[in-house]
Amino acid sequence: MEIFHISAECYPMAKVGGLADVVGALPKYQTKAGHDVRVVVPCYDTKFRKENDFECVHWGTVKLGNFNFPFSVLKETTDKLGYELYLIEIKELFDRPNVYGYEDDIERFVSFQIAALDWITARNKVPDVLNCHDHHTGLIPFLVQYAYKYESLSNVRSVITIHNGLYQGWFGFDKLFYLPEFDLKHVGFLEWDHSINSLAVGIKCAHAVTTVSPSYLDEINNAANGLEALFKAVRHKSKGILNGIDFEVWDPVKDQMIESNYSIDTFEIGKQQNKEKLCEEFELDPAKPLFSFIGRLFEEKGGDLLPQALALALSENFENISILILGSGNSLIEEQLVQLRNDYKGNYNVFIGYNEALAHLIYAGADFILMPSRVEPCGLNQMYALRYGTVPIVRRTGGLRDTVIDFGDDGNGVCHDQASVGDICYSINRAVKLYGDKISFKNIRAKGMGTDHSWERACQEYIEIYNLIIEKNEI
Ligand code: GLC
Repeated sequence: MEIFHISAECYPMAKVGGLADVVGALPKYQTKAGHDVRVVVPCYDTKFRKENDFECVHWGTVKLGNFNFPFSVLKETTDKLGYELYLIEIKELFDRPNVYGYEDDIERFVSFQIAALDWITARNKVPDVLNCHDHHTGLIPFLVQYAYKYESLSNVRSVITIHNGLYQGWFGFDKLFYLPEFDLKHVGFLEWDHSINSLAVGIKCAHAVTTVSPSYLDEINNAANGLEALFKAVRHKSKGILNGIDFEVWDPVKDQMIESNYSIDTFEIGKQQNKEKLCEEFELDPAKPLFSFIGRLFEEKGGDLLPQALALALSENFENISILILGSGNSLIEEQLVQLRNDYKGNYNVFIGYNEALAHLIYAGADFILMPSRVEPCGLNQMYALRYGTVPIVRRTGGLRDTVIDFGDDGNGVCHDQASVGDICYSINRAVKLYGDKISFKNIRAKGMGTDHSWERACQEYIEIYNLIIEKNEI
């Protein structure tokens, strides 16, 4: 079957968060399973764009109300990704270094969706499924069904995959004229709470809605930033599919970005060597248990709790632990985390920013990964950690609940329930004790490494949904 994934991010072309990892991996496994898979993302000014070759396969003009933006569709020409990657190049809107955060984000992503559909319509082949990801592509299920100019696509099945329901892409009806013409009797599909809500549009119009874990699907019935009632109403066409991780990129046996490779049989020595390298670089003591956090420093991820929780954990366990943070985000949290370095030199360090190679080395060298998230639709870091024999410390929410079980219940990690400083410290203290019990600690790490979170399973679940909506129009 021919499948299009349409998304704002795709690793390695453009990555802000886990969305990129999923859109960079799932298509590879669907291709391996014998499908024709194409990924479509905007053409940002990224390193990948500069360093790779592309051929122009289509060009046209996006009409956004009274504005006209010339665009080209660029196809990546090496076969190295394992799927076909297409970039929608709209120079005026996307030839910039960042993915999000511009005042004209609405104009950018509405244009992206229109350009993508203009091109897909102009090909002489109708795809089987359009899999849209998050609100940046939420208008597509509506446009293919109701915009006059996409009539040839009106029978194409669409799926919207929700990686994060907090962000919804709202805009006012004053911008309705951006959209290609459609029969106004369908205008109700666009509206949620008096605005056009791109995510809600996708949820209403797609043939199936997927979330990136089963628990997250349950949670958004009660907490979805205003869309709770909508999620309840579409429950019959919704499914939670737990993400996988890309074993080709995340494999301690052959990872080129780490200091020393290791397998489930050699992890004790292998992890120790990676830890030594990491500790040398960040002036920490490799004899102590090393706790880490990798990710975006936002409230959603519990980032605001970290400065206080870490200061408390460090002062209580001053002689006993090392902490290393890799992340960026809210500038106040960043400042507080940098500040901590003055008080706890030798036991604590922080790298503000993102660095893919350092992230790999941390998974390989750390003993514990902290994920105190308030909201975590799936979470990939805990799966990377498990695969690298690093024990996750998580708040039970969303995908974390589905993948990490407390060691007290014979599980693979350390869990707590509240997003609070107290709960984080309590978990760190339990983890310090666990670290001291060498045999239990070894067993838990080995258990984590043995867990199968490969994409094959999730890939199959997506295909089953596509088949159902093609055959029966519903799931
Ligand atoms: C978003 C979510 C995260 C999820 C990722 C990939 O970044 O916040 O929980 O793992 O998307 O689906």
